Amino acid sequence: MNESCHKETLPNILSIGAAVPDKVVTNEDLEKTLDTSDEWITSRTGIKHRHVLEEEEIPSSLGVDASREAIEESPVGPEDIDLVVVATNISDMPIPGTSPFIVNELGLSSDVPFFDLKAGCSGFLYAIDVAANMIKGKGYERILIIGLEALSRVVNWEDRSTCVLFGDGAGASVIGARGEGGRILSTSMFGDPSKAKLIRLEGGGTRLPPAEGSEDDERYYVRMEGKGVFKSAVNMMKRSSLNVLEDAGLALSDVDWIVPHQANIRIIKQLAKSLGVEMDRIIVNVEEYANTSTATIPLAFKEGLDEGSIEPGDVVLLTAFGAGAAYGATLLEW
Ligand code: ACO
Repeated sequence: MNESCHKETLPNILSIGAAVPDKVVTNEDLEKTLDTSDEWITSRTGIKHRHVLEEEEIPSSLGVDASREAIEESPVGPEDIDLVVVATNISDMPIPGTSPFIVNELGLSSDVPFFDLKAGCSGFLYAIDVAANMIKGKGYERILIIGLEALSRVVNWEDRSTCVLFGDGAGASVIGARGEGGRILSTSMFGDPSKAKLIRLEGGGTRLPPAEGSEDDERYYVRMEGKGVFKSAVNMMKRSSLNVLEDAGLALSDVDWIVPHQANIRIIKQLAKSLGVEMDRIIVNVEEYANTSTATIPLAFKEGLDEGSIEPGDVVLLTAFGAGAAYGATLLEW
């Protein structure tokens, strides 16, 4: 049993905010610059559109917008936030991470602590687990967590096998020691470092620093072993889902909605099949936003709430996998 799973009642998700860039890139737009087709992308991935930052836009601004909405929709004010965790894989700059810029822009208290958390596309669920435990173990009361990613900045727009899959976005939640919203029933974090190279961006760090000519070197862009990711993703999301259910003493039949990481509709359908769950209990919005990494879970969860699918009292299962390979799940009652 994973050390980070808890049987006792955990804190609440008080609110969810989300933000995506205005600019939309359609499959038809990509057909003009790549040897690809709407038919190929749709049938292999379920993706039709992705929202992408303009060159002059700063990625952390998406995190700021999502956070403002999350704080507004929560019963607390900016002055009440006592910790900020930003789940992101590509910071605005290598040092410092993205979190101080978001804290500053939001005008939070000058002594609020903050840090970035890097756990692939599972970052938002890792952040829920960390926040819940910081509330339980360290006495924090209102933690702002953010899932923020601007993968458009690190994909090779000439590589049809990767660029069609991703979009930019951010989601945020206030996690509180008490209050309305989603009562967290169980959280889990898992990892499988033997799969560390399945999804990777090798260049630009300390092992392979930025260098002249790197724009022509594929190691400086996000790459992945597509088939390997596909196979592992289903197993990982299934394992973490069953783990939080067991931990909370619930069964899949008790779950009203599943919100999985939105990487690819075929992965989501395979997960549903593997769990024996009908697709009408799964929130899917990959068609509109593509894979926004750490932002997919809050974007899809918020859509489920805004459309009235997820209702008060519903049991909701969040599950994700990502680079590392890091994976995990959260079970909550909304
Ligand atoms: N348009 C047209 N053809 C393409 C495209 C494209 N955009 N991309 C690849 N192809 C071609 C390939 O070049 C190849 O051509 P060839 O047979 O002439 O060599 C052919 O399509 C098949 O390529 P495969 O990579 O074998 O295609 P596959 O069926 O595996 O589908 C895909 C690729 C969609 C990426 C699939 O492997 C997949 O869904 N993997 C999961 C990856 C994923 O979703 N990752 C999420 C990102 S990471 C994360 O979220 C944590």
